[in-house]
Amino acid sequence: MSKSKILIQFDPDPQTSTFDSVVAIDSGVDQLFRHNAVTEAQVQGLVHGAIFTRGVDDLKSTALFFGGSDVQSTEALVAQAKSSFFGPMRVSLMSDPNGCNTTAAAAVLCAQKHIDFKQKKITILAGTGPVGMRIAHLIGGPATAGGDSTHGATIKVCSRTVAKAESVCNQLNINLPEANFIPWETSNSDQTESAVSDAHVVFAAGAAGVELLDTRWQRLSKLEVAIDLNGVPPAGIAGIGAMDKAKRFGQTICYGAIGVGGLKMKIHRSAIQKLFQSNDQTLEVEEIFAIGKKI
Ligand SMILES: NC(=O)c1ccc[n+]([C@@H]2O[C@H](COP(=O)([O-])OP(=O)(O)OC[C@H]3O[C@@H](n4cnc5c(N)ncnc54)[C@H](OP(=O)(O)O)[C@@H]3O)[C@@H](O)[C@H]2O)c1
Repeated sequence: MSKSKILIQFDPDPQTSTFDSVVAIDSGVDQLFRHNAVTEAQVQGLVHGAIFTRGVDDLKSTALFFGGSDVQSTEALVAQAKSSFFGPMRVSLMSDPNGCNTTAAAAVLCAQKHIDFKQKKITILAGTGPVGMRIAHLIGGPATAGGDSTHGATIKVCSRTVAKAESVCNQLNINLPEANFIPWETSNSDQTESAVSDAHVVFAAGAAGVELLDTRWQRLSKLEVAIDLNGVPPAGIAGIGAMDKAKRFGQTICYGAIGVGGLKMKIHRSAIQKLFQSNDQTLEVEEIFAIGKKI
């Protein structure tokens, strides 16, 4: 008889994310163990509780989910969990703090429906947040280029503070040394206009309720795809509605946050379901993107 599917939520926040819990239940999880305010010191004990209770053949029916609003804290918990596994004594895990991996995967896949990134100029406005950084990682890496990490896309990572953009580009280049990330300051509207002036694709990954780009983008002659991930008014890219999904403005195909959100939800649910296929999976941004590609 197959064991019930147990998902153990690890969340460093004071309250475990209800969003992550609801998606887990909707994805077919039978039992959800919700742990809030989890610290690195507590992870090993929780992981041992997960791996020592069922036989090795049944470990695929237990999985771990790492959420939370502070990505660095969550990543530290994930690292601790990975180091608590040994040999076959492990369970599958998924990391998606603040939905950054599922959202970035969905945004990049929406863009890829309309454009091949090869040799293209990509601008990521507010590219320093968790979602923007992962969009940059996916476009700069082999995941979006059929295994070819030298597809020649130029990726501007924008920030109101150039030092912050530089730091993010340096971080991204550690794992993707061949990718062409360009730090770009966007502390005023002229700088923002110059960041997008020659772009083929623009992603707006700014904080909720912040307009990053005014309607002048509608005059850009090269812009093929524009994706705004901010779902809270005002829009991140003025003129794009949250519900827009492959909506055409002149030559530009546009997506708003909810337009991307449908795919994001499908990716999240599929990833949860995949966790229970075996006990040895680690689903982080690239694996989650690969799941999205199959949807
Ligand atoms: N559609 C979906 O399904 C979905 C799912 C998850 C998240 N989201 C949305 O995706 C967006 C990105 O998420 P995130 O967690 O990466 O965002 P975040 O960390 O809150 O913010 C991203 C960046 O926005 C910039 N920023 C913050 N306040 C600003 C301001 N007042 N003016 C201009 N720029 C400002 C910051 O960059 P600098 O300081 O470097 O300038 C920051 O690094 C958010 O709008 C979020 O709500 C959508």
